[in-house]
Amino acid sequence: MTTPRIAFIGAGNMAASLIGGLRAQGVAASAIRASDRGAEQRAKIAAEYAIDTFASNAEAIQGADVIVLAVKPQAMKDMCLDLAAHVHAGQLIVSIAAGISCASLERWLAPQSSAARPNVCAIVRCMPNTPALLRQGVSGLYANAHVSSEQRQQAEQLLSAVGLALWLDQEQLLDAVTAVSGSGPAYFFLMIEAMTAAGEKLGLPRATAAQLTLHTALGAARMAVASDVDASELRRRVTSPAGTTEAAINTFQAGGFAALVEQALNAAAHRSAELAEQLGQ
Ligand SMILES: NC(=O)c1ccc[n+]([C@@H]2O[C@H](COP(=O)([O-])OP(=O)(O)OC[C@H]3O[C@@H](n4cnc5c(N)ncnc54)[C@H](OP(=O)(O)O)[C@@H]3O)[C@@H](O)[C@H]2O)c1
Repeated sequence: MTTPRIAFIGAGNMAASLIGGLRAQGVAASAIRASDRGAEQRAKIAAEYAIDTFASNAEAIQGADVIVLAVKPQAMKDMCLDLAAHVHAGQLIVSIAAGISCASLERWLAPQSSAARPNVCAIVRCMPNTPALLRQGVSGLYANAHVSSEQRQQAEQLLSAVGLALWLDQEQLLDAVTAVSGSGPAYFFLMIEAMTAAGEKLGLPRATAAQLTLHTALGAARMAVASDVDASELRRRVTSPAGTTEAAINTFQAGGFAALVEQALNAAAHRSAELAEQLGQ
């Protein structure tokens, strides 16, 4: 596969992580360009990654094989409508915006399409998560029917630069991805908050309770990722009958822990679908 030329529209946090990840993978600075409406943002990203930057989105995408749409979801429609006249068939559109469907992107980027002149927007929609900023993210990816196998590889290479990239075969599953991993870091932060507070109530200094909690979370995640058995088996292995862990797990279960997690993720998936509906108008 030849190195694709990649243009980022919007040079904020997520674009910076992706560009940093690509550069760390050895992608040449000359293969990457970015546009942003903010002069300060453009100067920052140009200084950090030695890439060409543009005030004009249309100029930035000239000659690009891959166009990464990295503006906030609310800014997406206007930006796409302005860009539509400049996008060529054969350019892959990669959207990392939460909740903007392929149908909306196609409508905005190829407004003239009809049965006689079908739109040819090859689109990959991605749902990354915040740890991508540390290249420890995980993303769900969905490709529409116009995406070639080479373009799938290009999108996968892009998202793999900031963590694990997993393909989905149905676009609507991105709502579930949003509920599990998109919003997921906040659930673990909530658990960390609660365990730190409970540790403090048990008499530990707050800083000690926080460090014990954080490193337990990190260690448990690393163990689970490295293990060839699933989390429930790992839990069984560290839960001795009538021991301390069992006393805590029984308390979680008596409080309806699994059902509460299911309800929380359902609420997130539902909200994701609702936002997609509103933003995609
Ligand atoms: N950050 C995350 O962890 C995360 C996780 C998952 C998905 N995402 C998705 O990633 C996308 C980007 O998020 P972010 O956190 O990187 O946002 P961000 O830091 O606000 O970056 C977006 C940049 O795009 C600029 N911009 C807005 N409209 C523009 C336009 N029409 N033309 C050119 N530049 C424009 C913004 O300028 P202004 O500041 O002037 O508006 C800003 O500099 C979002 O759609 C978000 O849903 C982010």
